[in-house]
Amino acid sequence: MLKSAILGCRGRARAHAKAYEDITRSKLTAICDMNEEHLNEFGEMFGVSQRYSDLDEMLDREKPDLLHIVTAPVLRGTRQPIRYPLLKVASDHGVPAVIIEKPIALVGEDWRQIRDLSEQTETKIAVNTQLNFHPKNLELKKDVAEGKIGDIQLIEASCRNPPVDQAPHTLQLISSYIDNSRPVKVMGQIAGSDQLESDQPSPDNAAARIHYANGVQASVAFGPEMAPRVLADTGNHRHKRVRVFGTEGFIHWRFESWEKYTPETGYQSGDLDYGEQDAVAQTGLTNAMIDWLEDDSKVHPTNLKQSLAEFNLLLGIYESGSLRRPIDLPFDPADNMMQHLKDIL
Ligand SMILES: NC(=O)c1ccc[n+]([C@@H]2O[C@H](COP(=O)([O-])OP(=O)(O)OC[C@H]3O[C@@H](n4cnc5c(N)ncnc54)[C@H](O)[C@@H]3O)[C@@H](O)[C@H]2O)c1
Repeated sequence: MLKSAILGCRGRARAHAKAYEDITRSKLTAICDMNEEHLNEFGEMFGVSQRYSDLDEMLDREKPDLLHIVTAPVLRGTRQPIRYPLLKVASDHGVPAVIIEKPIALVGEDWRQIRDLSEQTETKIAVNTQLNFHPKNLELKKDVAEGKIGDIQLIEASCRNPPVDQAPHTLQLISSYIDNSRPVKVMGQIAGSDQLESDQPSPDNAAARIHYANGVQASVAFGPEMAPRVLADTGNHRHKRVRVFGTEGFIHWRFESWEKYTPETGYQSGDLDYGEQDAVAQTGLTNAMIDWLEDDSKVHPTNLKQSLAEFNLLLGIYESGSLRRPIDLPFDPADNMMQHLKDIL
């Protein structure tokens, strides 16, 4: 039996812990949070007695096979980026595998640090973009992979939360329909500066046309101005979606519904329970990490290098919007990009 541990015991960590109810190859054996109240409440909720307030101490003593890093990308209330330092600690301790929450970075500076770490570390790292494993998405992806909508002509995807928050999910979904083909060029537009002052800085809105290495193009819209609603009168976080147009049909996955047309089945549609789908997906994402731990050839679909390419694409959209020209990808983002965006937006 493998040993898993969680760093960060606030709201989001519950979904990570709950997945262990259906996981047979690893057990949640230890948790860590510098906030004792969060630590103990979470420990009681999931029956975990090995509790730590210091990450180094937990890793030294418990030696987990799989560490979940479930924190915001900044230490709340401080704006101090913590993705890179936490991944570095895990890597320095030789933790075999890490699942870390999205977004993997915030700006060019931490993206570059994590990119450099990804070139050196022995730790297998995946980002928690679990929509990849939603059962309905897996089913629709199978249709696309089996050619049921013909050849892919165009992918169109969106989400209404600020780009840095939900574009990582949306861009990963696009990648998942094209076997993680990498983006090679983007032309983007950005608007709105309110979010630039937040803990997770980004333009309020972004839209782009993306060219992928396999020849497929995608059109994306992030933020409330241009991204369509899935359901009327629901919060901005509930509008993630992706539509894949083929030569003979299409598939369309939405936060709480789906539709498709194939010549074989005609037009079909239905509703989805996001919570149910998400719980199954969290287990699927964790099991895929255990598969990779046990077999080097089973690389996790949301692995760090892939996620960094998707985050570089997002930064490329900002860069393209600010310079008003297409950007070849991957590109080296400038330091202080957010300050530049504050100046121009
Ligand atoms: N994948 C999804 O669908 C999804 C959904 C919701 C949220 N999220 C992501 O989850 C993350 C936020 O999760 P949250 O709101 O539970 O996190 P949070 O940042 O509010 O809480 C993190 C906890 O970790 C602790 N912590 C941070 N650094 C520590 C350290 N070095 N040592 C010990 N303890 C430490 C803090 O005390 C805190 O209790 C965000 O990145 C968000 O994007 C993802």
